[in-house]
Amino acid sequence: MPFPKADKIWMDGELVDWDAATVHVLTPTLHYGYGVFEGIRAYPTEQGPAVFELRPHIERLHRSAKIYPPLDSIPYSVDDLCEAILGLIEVNGHEGGCYIRPTIILGYGEIGLNPLPSRPQTIIATWEWGAYLGEDALVNGVRVCISSYRRIGKNTIPPQGKANGQYLNSSLAKVEALRSGYDEAIMLSEDGYVAEGTGENLFVVRDGVLLTPPLSDGPLGGITRAAVMEIARDLGVEVHETSLVRTDLFLADEIFLTGTAAEITPVREVDGREIGPRGPVTEQIQSTFIDAVRGRLDRYKGWLTYVEG
Ligand SMILES: Cc1ncc(COP(=O)(O)O)c(C=O)c1O
Repeated sequence: MPFPKADKIWMDGELVDWDAATVHVLTPTLHYGYGVFEGIRAYPTEQGPAVFELRPHIERLHRSAKIYPPLDSIPYSVDDLCEAILGLIEVNGHEGGCYIRPTIILGYGEIGLNPLPSRPQTIIATWEWGAYLGEDALVNGVRVCISSYRRIGKNTIPPQGKANGQYLNSSLAKVEALRSGYDEAIMLSEDGYVAEGTGENLFVVRDGVLLTPPLSDGPLGGITRAAVMEIARDLGVEVHETSLVRTDLFLADEIFLTGTAAEITPVREVDGREIGPRGPVTEQIQSTFIDAVRGRLDRYKGWLTYVEG
């Protein structure tokens, strides 16, 4: 499928034509994966496109960069990057919403495993991207397996940084799942607790209560995860962050995945055990989330930054 190109890409403050937005083949991030990034979405609303939780995403980008010096030495504050993103969406004319990918990489000039002498480069791209796991998945759910790959751990690659190279771990699990006929993989932590999907957080509904693994079990501190917990509590659903093992998935009443790309995607089967079609708690949270990001609920207006302020 051809890439859904936009007009411009932001590179260190310059708006560059999409096809001219290139880096040298000896850019160190290409060789060692030393970079950080974010995934953000803008949604169409009645007042034009609005970005969901823009600032928290850019704050997380800055936190990821702090884990990986010298990526934290970029001259762009959180405000600068938020402004750059809003400007880029306007220039690219994404009236129907878009996906936003800021990344900080090590620029060309040095090579080797010491990143410190390299100069970081900041890049922001936007494009129009539909449902990550497919439109059908949002309604009918996905089939998942428990991966034979463990999720990166606290003392290997810090799970709370969103670093480019750590996604080798996710992609290995994803390829294994796809080649085994599943849609997605669930990864366990090094000590065998459920961590998350390859690019999504995970929630279980049991006896009407919402459960999700604590960050100490290795999932990324997802921004959609936080939004879902807030929505659930507002709907009167009890929420607990608690360690889960694979049997908790087999015996769940409902399971769903959350993420900027995947939004809220129900899980209908785990390792051949049927969980069932999208359940009532999932559906209620999913529809509230959609209404919130589309600017239809005053209660959650604070999550949105409108492109034309
Ligand atoms: C590994 C991983 N887990 C979870 C998530 C979901 O996080 P968020 O809701 O902030 O997109 C992502 C996406 O960023 C991810 O890459």
